[in-house]
Amino acid sequence: MRIDGKPFTSIWPHTDLKAVEIIDQTKLPHQFATLTLVDVADAARAIKDMHVRGAPLIGVTAAYGLALAMRADPSDGNLEAAAQTLLATRPTAVNLAWALKDMRQHLLAVKPQDRAAKAFARAAELAADDIALCASIGDHGLALIGDAQAKKGGKPVNILTHCNAGWLATVDWGTATAPIYKAHDAGIAVHVFVDETRPRNQGASLTAFELGQHGVPHTVIVDNAGGHVMQHGGVDLVIVGTDRTTASGDVCNKIGTYLKALAAKDNGVPFYVAAPSPSIDFSLDDGVAEIPIETRGSEEVTHMSGATADGRIETVRITPPSSPALNYAFDVTPARLVTGLITERGVVAATKEALAKAFPERVTVRR
Ligand code: MRU
Repeated sequence: MRIDGKPFTSIWPHTDLKAVEIIDQTKLPHQFATLTLVDVADAARAIKDMHVRGAPLIGVTAAYGLALAMRADPSDGNLEAAAQTLLATRPTAVNLAWALKDMRQHLLAVKPQDRAAKAFARAAELAADDIALCASIGDHGLALIGDAQAKKGGKPVNILTHCNAGWLATVDWGTATAPIYKAHDAGIAVHVFVDETRPRNQGASLTAFELGQHGVPHTVIVDNAGGHVMQHGGVDLVIVGTDRTTASGDVCNKIGTYLKALAAKDNGVPFYVAAPSPSIDFSLDDGVAEIPIETRGSEEVTHMSGATADGRIETVRITPPSSPALNYAFDVTPARLVTGLITERGVVAATKEALAKAFPERVTVRR
């Protein structure tokens, strides 16, 4: 996608393969800056401190992090140590473990002296695959938006989204945003309600930024407004992303997604989840009981950042200094609240049977 008219992906290797460049998402929308990752510690820090975030991008960044580690020391011991360092950065998005497993398999199959080249090549493949998965999700979701527009007699389709499941959360296109970009590009009138997504405001800062850069009409609303807007007929469909979807279709996504699903159910609004297959964890069934939910620092709740009138990024406290805060980063939306999963293989019901039928090669037998 484009920033100020210039094409970008969210991550790219330097041509000499000595470093990897990322867009520093902690500075958007106020400043556009990139960060150079030169070793596995840089990659781990970038993921943990959320310079990059979003399930698919975390996976690809970890893959490039392993490549940087192999450049420094391609031994088995360093491969394991680097994989563990990267795996420990964020617990919820399954794409991280998925990408590391894939990379380890490919790297253990070659001699240490060939591992750095292999690792960069495989990381590039994972990045290219992610773009293709998102583009395909875009095509399937485009059909849903087209249907919604037909039902409305051609009037603009109002879509609500939560957090940032946009191109900044992937390598390109985004998951939840891919259908929106494709619809907009196809001349279908769309308007997006963007949840601000406290505490880190990925909606207000990142999704709004992306949509604006692509010229997609949108309105930022506070997280608590979605139910009200739905009650008044303002939302035709909800499309969100996922950090981990279980074999039975429970969806773990950014904190607050569950409340949007409840409001959608109560108001008869279709609730879709854009779910590329690497974010589906076929080893788990019960999302509420089994998915590890990341708890982040309380300062993300007690403080907020923004730009001052003269362009400086400042952080201010918004709570009494003595009040404790708790910061759950994700929640689980049970499958019964999900209208459908928009996957690269089509729109799939959020059920064990439908997921197994769509992805037979991924089904695992639980002991
Ligand atoms: O904490 P974040 O910003 O990494 O959370 C991101 C989300 O919850 C996204 O919706 C999810 O990763 C899907 S991204 C295509």
